[in-house]
Amino acid sequence: MTARVAVLVSGGGTNLQAILDASARGEMPSAKVALVVSSNPEAFALERARRAGVETAVCPRAGRTQAEFEAGLESVLRAHEIDLIVLAGFMTILSAAFVSKYPERILNVHPSLIPSFCGAGFYGLRVHRAALDYGVKVTGATVHFVNEIPDGGRIIAQKAVDVLEGDTPESLQRRVMEQAEWVLLPRAVEKVASEMGGTSI
Ligand code: GAR
Repeated sequence: MTARVAVLVSGGGTNLQAILDASARGEMPSAKVALVVSSNPEAFALERARRAGVETAVCPRAGRTQAEFEAGLESVLRAHEIDLIVLAGFMTILSAAFVSKYPERILNVHPSLIPSFCGAGFYGLRVHRAALDYGVKVTGATVHFVNEIPDGGRIIAQKAVDVLEGDTPESLQRRVMEQAEWVLLPRAVEKVASEMGGTSI
């Protein structure tokens, strides 16, 4: 069985691109990116999806309650018969009620070695700024299942990345993406998809 994957995005979508590229290279035989959903209508990730011929949907977060937002998201996921959800730079925390409907069917990539620099308030460049402020010499990325605790679900894969003298949040973010996130995420999606064995959400 090929798992039908929805990638949820909010911004640039370089992790989405890594998944699309790995898929095009034949490295994800158990998974098909069937849908890209953005919480932000302006996200460049939507353009990346269109260029790859993947269907897109926008579920705006702004101006809606969490319940309204999640009802819209759930209906688009069901309409596309999605088996597996990947949060790739998706900047909205999903409620416990929502994630409990998809146990071990939602993956997230986080730009640190969990349990460091994670949880509510740690996203994007803030994570790398916190790592530099703390003075750690090694950071990295984590792919994990999503449960009701922000960044608290079971870890699937991690990769360490050196912090270098003179790093800025931007230079560290780039290195963590290149050396860890873009490598780990497609592999983790393939691993989970290959182990799913026909169960649908
Ligand atoms: C990535 O570094 C991702 O790990 C991070 O946002 C960036 C999105 O980049 N996600 C979080 O911080 C979630 N807590 P992208 O849109 O280019 O993939």
